[in-house]
Amino acid sequence: MDSLLIKGGVPLHGEVEISGAKNAVLPIMAATLLTSEPCTIRRVPNLSDVRFMAQILTWLGAQVKVEGDTVRVHAKKIKGAGEYDLIRKMRGSICIMGPLLGRLKKATVSLPGGCVIGARPINLHLKGFESLGAKVTIEGGYVHASARRLIGSSMFLGGRSGSTVLGTANVLMAATLAEGVTLIESAACEPEVVDLASFLNAMGARISGAGSPTITITGVKELHGAEHEVIPDRIEAATYAIAAAVTNGQVTLRGARADHMHAILDKLNDSGVKVDRTGPDIIIRRNGRLKPVDITTLPYSGFPTDAQAQMMALMALTPGISIITERIFESRFMHVSELARLGADIEIEGPSAIVKGGKPLSGAPVMASDLRASAALVLAGLAARGTTQVNRVYHIDRGYEKIDVKLRQLGARIERIEES
Ligand code: EPZ
Repeated sequence: MDSLLIKGGVPLHGEVEISGAKNAVLPIMAATLLTSEPCTIRRVPNLSDVRFMAQILTWLGAQVKVEGDTVRVHAKKIKGAGEYDLIRKMRGSICIMGPLLGRLKKATVSLPGGCVIGARPINLHLKGFESLGAKVTIEGGYVHASARRLIGSSMFLGGRSGSTVLGTANVLMAATLAEGVTLIESAACEPEVVDLASFLNAMGARISGAGSPTITITGVKELHGAEHEVIPDRIEAATYAIAAAVTNGQVTLRGARADHMHAILDKLNDSGVKVDRTGPDIIIRRNGRLKPVDITTLPYSGFPTDAQAQMMALMALTPGISIITERIFESRFMHVSELARLGADIEIEGPSAIVKGGKPLSGAPVMASDLRASAALVLAGLAARGTTQVNRVYHIDRGYEKIDVKLRQLGARIERIEES
């Protein structure tokens, strides 16, 4: 198992190419199951989650070819049941259920368990399938959904912390091949949902309102093959923006979309980081003393939960008190104790973390627990005095393409080593 060794204290400078969005490409790859014709997806990031999804599609009977950042999928003939262990390994694969139900009128997948950041139930996904007329049962660790016909209907998909991203994606995909019109209220508005809807429309679906809380889908008989280029990863871009800020550097985010990052860029601006979005790319430059800011994570277009940990690393370095409140996942503070090992002063009070920032950090061995927590530890290590060793970086490889290579290109002293 690899770990990352980081010698901190070097201001980052230069340009970084932002990869395609992990959270857009996973449901888009699953959507290729909706047609028996070939599909081509471009700007696909080279991530372990993407490789998992390719294995799952292959297991279901699709032909999958990966050439650089282009993935070709031809799901000519497929079966309706996903391989147990593969699905259990990656929660995101739950989004094969909608396409299987849509095309085959049946789907069986293993129930994704909880994860370190929260219980993460799928009750809203299943509620959506039932609204379309599917019969849903849970047995032996599997969830089964089947229907003689899928009938379009109106449904409310809001949950205790608002909308669900993959729940919206799953129901959207099933409804493309249902009879009649489906209306999803309290739909997720994330750019990744919009990107999926534009791919589905390129396949011949009739979807309107994606990006708003009300999505309308007029069912069609069948879908055809299509080509699509995935949007850039706004969370990867946010991570490199914060890398520039924690190291007192200047970084250009090549290919990032500022219109997907308003909440993040706004908070960086408030904290005294210079954000230049006048040109084709976003330029991030630390501009002297940082200011503490309070953050509450919310569904899009609010501040994304996937950038909460990284922002906490920045606030740990910022003199003063900042309060970070996590409203989406109930236990997404696994990084707090590891940041404390580097010298950060953070207390958890219910859904909030009170960050008493400004103390210099010093390098230490730390343990990654989940994808974004590990990104926060890398950022803290870039700012800390001495050497930080981030262990279990397989977490980070799930969502960041070649992070050590990209950071080295910006001048970071970072290397990947076999864990001792
Ligand atoms: C997606 O997960 C992302 N994953 C997550 O990114 C991201 O954190 C999350 O959306 C929120 O933005 C992918 O796209 C692969 P949700 P998803 O359903 O769809 C509750 C990362 O770091 N809920 O929007 O699984 C749920 O428990 C990952 O890249 C229900 O109660 O998240 C949570 O509290 C981590 N019932 C909230 O809704 C349901 O049926 C939002 O979850 C579904 C969700």
